[in-house]
Amino acid sequence: MKLLVVCLGNICRSPMAEGILRKIITEQNLNIEVDSAGTSDYHVGEHPDNRAIATAKKFGIDISSLRGRQFTTGDFDRFDRIYAMDRENYKNIISLARNTEDREKVFYFYNVNNEGFDVPDPWFGGHEGFTPVFKLLENLSEQVIQDLK
Ligand code: 4NP
Repeated sequence: MKLLVVCLGNICRSPMAEGILRKIITEQNLNIEVDSAGTSDYHVGEHPDNRAIATAKKFGIDISSLRGRQFTTGDFDRFDRIYAMDRENYKNIISLARNTEDREKVFYFYNVNNEGFDVPDPWFGGHEGFTPVFKLLENLSEQVIQDLK
């Protein structure tokens, strides 16, 4: 099973989610691969935002070596499930889908009873905004993995 988590910049939410998911997968010895991407090309090749790196580190997860990349249509072929962090990301991913099979791979990362919600974008706020988002991503990651089992 191959998962892709997608946000706008691929430097805050999706790299934190990638780090959390990797940790859960390792701890539970699961056969799941994870990657992340951004719908934009704003931060291609960059490491995650320093606030995201510091927050993940605080909770024992090292995401400092990850690099931003942009989502491409080829990702529909490489991944089984593609998770959007918010409605805008969801729309942008769906707009690149080539067919029904592609569209059926797209989910909300924050999904409750088949309803999608936005994971708040911490980028525009201060450092203190990152911990609540990290905590939310932890809960949602547990849920995502549980749903796959
Ligand atoms: P992310 O946060 O989508 O969670 O990585 C953002 C990062 C960069 C920008 C917006 C959101 N930006 O506009 O550059």
